[in-house]
Amino acid sequence: MISILFLLQLLVNSPEVPAKDLEFTSSPIDIREELISDEGLVLLQKHCYSCHNPRSKSHDEIIAPPLWGMKKHYLEAYPEKAEFEKAMMNFIQNPTEEKALMKGPIKRFGLMPKPAVSNEDLQKIVSYIYANEIENPAWHIEKDNQKKNKSGGLR
Ligand code: HEC
Repeated sequence: MISILFLLQLLVNSPEVPAKDLEFTSSPIDIREELISDEGLVLLQKHCYSCHNPRSKSHDEIIAPPLWGMKKHYLEAYPEKAEFEKAMMNFIQNPTEEKALMKGPIKRFGLMPKPAVSNEDLQKIVSYIYANEIENPAWHIEKDNQKKNKSGGLR
């Protein structure tokens, strides 16, 4: 028995076994999920932060609402992951005023143009948004705190 294990060990460590044959057995699922969500962030920065920039300095300089707030509204309307992702995908794939959860930003910024992103990449982006904390611009945090104080902390 021991010698079989030893042989297996040798085989696994052998440089003659091509790396790609070992890839799937040796990488645990959680590591791969982490890679996918990192990819989501890269795609988000590339395709969305040009407009939804979380590093904006003030409310006056933005050209689109911060994604942090969008996520909050979507979570309130669609707490379930599948529904959340479906609704957000549906809007982004073809933005229309009827589909938009919030009408205020359309009045201020105009309707969001359809971004040039493949459905596959878009799926990664919305999964990332659902599963991860989204950066909130500093001025926006300030505004949220003021609102909370005005309403006596009840919201
Ligand atoms: C060219 C600028 C621009 C780009 C790029 C852009 N957006 Fe937007 N987005 C906007 C504007 C402006 C609005 C507000 C008006 C509206 O809702 O259509 C908006 C609104 C949204 C909303 C809220 C829709 C609702 O239901 O009210 C979501 C969600 C959103 N964007 C996600 C994204 C994601 C994810 C990406 C990247 C794939 C992205 N946006 C790329 C400009 C942009």
